[in-house]
Formats: sequence, structure tokens, C-alpha cells
Amino acid sequence: MIYLNGQWMPIEEAKVPVLDRGFIFGDGVYEVIPVYRRKPFRAEGHMQRLARSLAAVEIPNPHPEARWLELLAEIVARQPFADQAVYFQVTRGVARRDHAFPKESTPTVFMMSNPLVTPSDQAYARGVACVTATDNRWLRCDIKSTSLLGNVLMRQYAADRDAIETIMFRDGLLTEASASNVLIVKGGVIASPQKDNLILPGITLDATIDLARESGLPLEMRPVTEAEVRDADEIWLSSSTKEVLPVTQLDGKPVGHGDGAGRPGPMMARMRAAYQAAKAAL
Ligand code: PDD
Repeated sequence: MIYLNGQWMPIEEAKVPVLDRGFIFGDGVYEVIPVYRRKPFRAEGHMQRLARSLAAVEIPNPHPEARWLELLAEIVARQPFADQAVYFQVTRGVARRDHAFPKESTPTVFMMSNPLVTPSDQAYARGVACVTATDNRWLRCDIKSTSLLGNVLMRQYAADRDAIETIMFRDGLLTEASASNVLIVKGGVIASPQKDNLILPGITLDATIDLARESGLPLEMRPVTEAEVRDADEIWLSSSTKEVLPVTQLDGKPVGHGDGAGRPGPMMARMRAAYQAAKAAL
């Protein structure tokens, strides 16, 4: 069952008017929340980011956080499967087509939940391939907007090259990947770009930062150069549906140095263990 504007229904029955600004302009924001054994992972972080995205695009938040958390619990309970990827979307609503905000409109609220599909055991064991490109998206990548054409084209660029993700650089600095944040490891230190307008503030990235601290793994949030990424010992992707995933090929070349090149590194093993423990402790 899905949720649309206060009603529960099978997804086949859910319909949105063609003048919905989500359809016409991509004028909306969204969230993806991972759920393990019916327990949401970092739900508050996702709800706070949803509130921030809505405020950034001036869509009135239809619900206080407590109500969003209730709706989340309800959609989770309504599914026949336990591990879920819950999707929330809020658009500016239905109005005659004009770029400027309508004087009056009611936000469209849509929620669905699908089985959570994480990468295969083999992907975590062997690592995945990524390609790189110049980041050509807009300058408000901190908003989790449904206007995702830039990300869609980047993800397709990767898919066309049998890669999982496109890792992007802007002005010689790492930003993020098409649908994930990126971390690197060099000399036993994890580094990831500081949160600013050029990247999505990932909730999985927050979890990774906290777990690194708790596990005594050194981590720096700072500008990371393209050269550092290409010379890294390890490269990681983080996202709600990928968790923390090792990248072992970049533009067709093995990641890392010496015997371990092209294989997930020792820091990844520690982070993956910490991440699995955090899931088990939910
Ligand atoms: N994508 N950066 C981008 C551009 C993303 O689209 C995502 C997530 C992330 C990681 O954010 P989080 O850890 O909060 O999932 C970073 C989601 C999963 C998606 O669009 O399906």
C-alpha cells in the first residue's frame, strides 16, 4: 500500500494530476529511508533533512516531525516484507503552469515502500567500479530535490560504462557521486568533503562519521582534490541503499597500491563491521 494525500491505496490506483508541479517542473523534494527488520535507520536525520529541503524551496512543510515519523511507522507496518526502502515525496502541488509559485496550492504528499535492495555480498567482498566526470549540476546540490536530471545523466554515464556510479569533481575538487557520497582513505586517515551547497548532506555519511569516531578511525572533513582521489588507498561510496561500499576500480584502473590494489582495504573491513553492528543494534 502507498500513501497519497492522506489516503492509502494500491500503487496502481495512485494518480496525480498532470498539472502537478512535480510533473511539470520537478518542483518537489524527497527522501529515501532504509528500514531493517521494520526498524528505520536514522529516521530523525531523514526527517530533519526533509524539513530543511522543504524550507530551502519554500514549500510549506505539511507535517510536523512527529507526524512524519507516525506515517513512516504506518507505511512500514503495512508492507509484507521487513527490510524496506521508504520513499517520501512532497511537491508544491497542482496549479496552472507558471514558473513562479502559485498563490495557493496544497503540497502533494506521496509515500511508498519497496523491498530494500542493497548491493550483493560479492559487491562488498570485491568492490565495485566507478567512472569520473566533471560535476555539471546546479549549485544547490544540498537540497534533496526531485529535479534530478543532472544526477540521472551522471548515473546513466556510469551504467553505459558498466560502472556503479560516476564520481564527480568541480574545480579540481571531489564533490560526490551520482547518487552517493564519497569518502577516501589515505595513510590510515579517512577524508570526505565538508558539507556545503555542492553535495547532499548524506545521512549514511553522518552514520559513517559517527561510526569512524566510535571505532577510533581518524576522519577529516575537508576539501579533497581529484589527485588525492586518484592516489587514494581506498575509495568508499555511502548511501542509504548502498550502506558503505568499497570502490576498487576507478576509470578502469585498480584503486590502491601494492598487493591490495583493486581489492577492498583494511579500513573498509573495519567500517563495514561497525556498520553491520549498528544495524544489528537497531
Ligand atoms: N540517494 N548524494 C546524492 C546525490 C544522493 O542522491 C544520495 C542518496 C546521497 C546519499 O545520501 P543518503 O546517505 O542520505 O542516502 C548522496 C538516494 C538513496 C536516492 O536518490 O535513491
